[in-house]
Amino acid sequence: MKINKNYQKLEDSYLFSTIAHKVAEFTQKNPDASVIRLGIGDVTLPLAPAVVKAMNKAVEEMGVKESFRGYGPEQGYGFLKEAIQKYYASRNTHLELDEIFISDGAKSDVGNILDLFSQDNTVLVPNPVYPVYVDTNVMAGRKIVFADANEANDFLPMPDENIKADIIYICSPNNPTGAVYTKEGLKKWVDYALKNNAIILYDAAYECFIKDKNLPRSIFEIEGAKKCAIEFCSFSKTAGFTGTRCGYTIVPQELVYDGVHINKMWLRRQTTKFNGVPYIVQRGAEAVFSEEGQKQIQENIAYYSENAKIIADTLKAKGIYFTGGTHSPYIWLKCPNNMSSWEFFDYLLEKAQVVGTPGAGFGENGEGFFRLTSFGDRAKTIEAMERFSKLF
Ligand code: MLT
Repeated sequence: MKINKNYQKLEDSYLFSTIAHKVAEFTQKNPDASVIRLGIGDVTLPLAPAVVKAMNKAVEEMGVKESFRGYGPEQGYGFLKEAIQKYYASRNTHLELDEIFISDGAKSDVGNILDLFSQDNTVLVPNPVYPVYVDTNVMAGRKIVFADANEANDFLPMPDENIKADIIYICSPNNPTGAVYTKEGLKKWVDYALKNNAIILYDAAYECFIKDKNLPRSIFEIEGAKKCAIEFCSFSKTAGFTGTRCGYTIVPQELVYDGVHINKMWLRRQTTKFNGVPYIVQRGAEAVFSEEGQKQIQENIAYYSENAKIIADTLKAKGIYFTGGTHSPYIWLKCPNNMSSWEFFDYLLEKAQVVGTPGAGFGENGEGFFRLTSFGDRAKTIEAMERFSKLF
């Protein structure tokens, strides 16, 4: 038996596991410390009442012979796909039902989709970026090239004709920087992908935080994207499903490479390796799109956006450079006093008992930066910023 040696090229542990481990060590040594966690982007508000109601009803159905359900369709129930289809239609994007695949979250599908692509593709990943894009390709032994995101380009790298890439990752609003592409910016990537026979893997997990109607919430708002892009989205941040698990992936019928339909390949992959998301969870997700559900989740998103404003206002008052927060739940700040990302992590934990995410964990270009999330509790966010203010 030979192991996959590519795993040895990975960091010892996944970024958020390393942070959790460090915080656990700190709390063990300081049992009385009141630690405020603004690190991992995990939601704190409970599921919307409309979602809970729908899930309760589904549980009842599962307990009755006539309405009990066993295995569902691997690609998701029609009722949820129809709700997603309508959601896109409300933004003038038409999707066929068989282009929508329900999953247990964007993270899984972003990793699983790689089953469809040969190992000898070159992958283009922005730097800094959500570590899953890099790690999943390192595991598969693919060549990775990076697109520099930095202050000079407002953390929005543009395609470079001199760099040949086959698989391109885009996350907008971006994790970790909060930067959002305009339609013109995305169009340049779509044009590049079409010209170079590349595919774009578009992570739209944070689309619900976009407030400006002129900014694209889906890559399929861009002409030509259906011929070169797959979109991943999730209920995690939209509707607080981080622990409930549900997402969706859009694989257009028009995606054809080497005469092969990517949609068919994905269907084949999913029917073989995946047995679908629980019926109860899919009913909960469907309720997110009901009138009541939409109203309730918008209130939650507004709550998190207000947290982001509280963090942003503190940084502004202190004259600390940052991006994000407006169309994103993340604030990406420059570490004060030229500290490195991990130095600042330790400093903030030690002096203020506030946990954030070191920018270096998102790639080399993240060094010297730090990410705070607005998904925390309001009172704790205020308290964290008061503690922060006293330090600088
Ligand atoms: C993050 O903090 O970057 C996210 O919570 C990670 C994720 O969505 O998997």
